[in-house]
Amino acid sequence: MSFHSMWAELLPVGRSSASGGYRRYAWTGADADCRAWFRQQAEARGLAYEVDRNGNQWAWLGDPAAGNAVVTGSHLDSVPDGGAFDGPLGVVSAFAALDELRGRGARLTRPLGIVNFGDEEGARFGLACVGSRLTAGALTVEQAHRLTDGDGVTLPQAMEAAGYDPDGIGPDPERLARIGAFVELHVEQGRALDLSGDRVGIASAIWPHGRWRFDFRGEANHAGTTRLADRRDPMPSYAETVLAARREAELAGAVATFGKIAVEPNGVNAIPSLVRGWLDSRAADQASLDTVVTAIEKAAREYAAAHGVDLTVERESFTPVVEFDHALRDELALILSGDTELRVPVLGTGAGHDAGILSGRVPTAMLFVRNPTGVSHSPAEHATEDDCVAGVSALADVLEGLART
Ligand code: GLV
Ligand code: MN
Ligand code: MN
Ligand code: MN
Repeated sequence: MSFHSMWAELLPVGRSSASGGYRRYAWTGADADCRAWFRQQAEARGLAYEVDRNGNQWAWLGDPAAGNAVVTGSHLDSVPDGGAFDGPLGVVSAFAALDELRGRGARLTRPLGIVNFGDEEGARFGLACVGSRLTAGALTVEQAHRLTDGDGVTLPQAMEAAGYDPDGIGPDPERLARIGAFVELHVEQGRALDLSGDRVGIASAIWPHGRWRFDFRGEANHAGTTRLADRRDPMPSYAETVLAARREAELAGAVATFGKIAVEPNGVNAIPSLVRGWLDSRAADQASLDTVVTAIEKAAREYAAAHGVDLTVERESFTPVVEFDHALRDELALILSGDTELRVPVLGTGAGHDAGILSGRVPTAMLFVRNPTGVSHSPAEHATEDDCVAGVSALADVLEGLART
């Protein structure tokens, strides 16, 4: 099946007719439809299909038990109103690359795997990369059991409702030990390739990043009858904190975003009792990230105190800087440039990926495909079909080059 027809088949799944954006959240109906698509692609190609103990899907050409497998893939879930490419491009390209290798009659001496990692975006349970974190032991079973969505449904309950047994979740070192190299292809989430005029690039590193929950607690009261001087309103101190985040991020050369907020009781005519805001912050290095988050928290405490509001700050997740395997990165560059003088761009990214989680356990690399606007986590996310097809060819070259060694 061509890249085009696979892409077209997956395109309507979980897409909102109102916004054109995707809501493919872990263990929902849209997720089940994506998973059914993956299984069908695997079986149509005669690949050995399996779901691991953490709900990640795998498709194998050759026997993974032989070890030193070359694995590629990404994720199929999305952020709220996400684009079509973040995640799915890597999975569709994986199947398309395998087709291209078969078409070339490539001789592979290593097992080849395709993976769909579950719940990469963390849109439902608040933690990104749950499937790969569990597999890599970067999330404990106890922590996973405590993950709860906005409706109070826990991760094990959600898995069970989707027909998966949650009892076995946990680290999977034997599975990882069989993987000799993992390569994730992903749409670029910036404009570096557009600016350099290249279709495909190689990742160097992922910025350290984390999520922090800020709870500003005041006192609910009547919006019309409570004198300003008598209020303990958490909203102004939250608003001042948002502005401080912007200012401090600029100073530190970092990024800081309050993209999600919950207000209680959430009534137009009630002073809030609680404003809960989630900070996502990222920087090229750990010191800058520490600086920006410490400064935002300090400012928030001052604003909260000035308004008689209590503040608690909790770090919900954190991923340290990831430097991708240098040897594998060089090997990819060599494979892609062939015997030409072609220079393949090598770029860092502020976005998190399953590849980042795996990189501590397995030699890991990433390929990026040009995004003409750089927009991502939005329905406007895009890559041209020509660039996607160039990405498939590059991935096929990489898989063939690696799987022959
Ligand atoms: C996920 O894509 C993230 O970088 O937050
Ligand atoms: Mn994403
Ligand atoms: Mn992604
Ligand atoms: Mn991601």
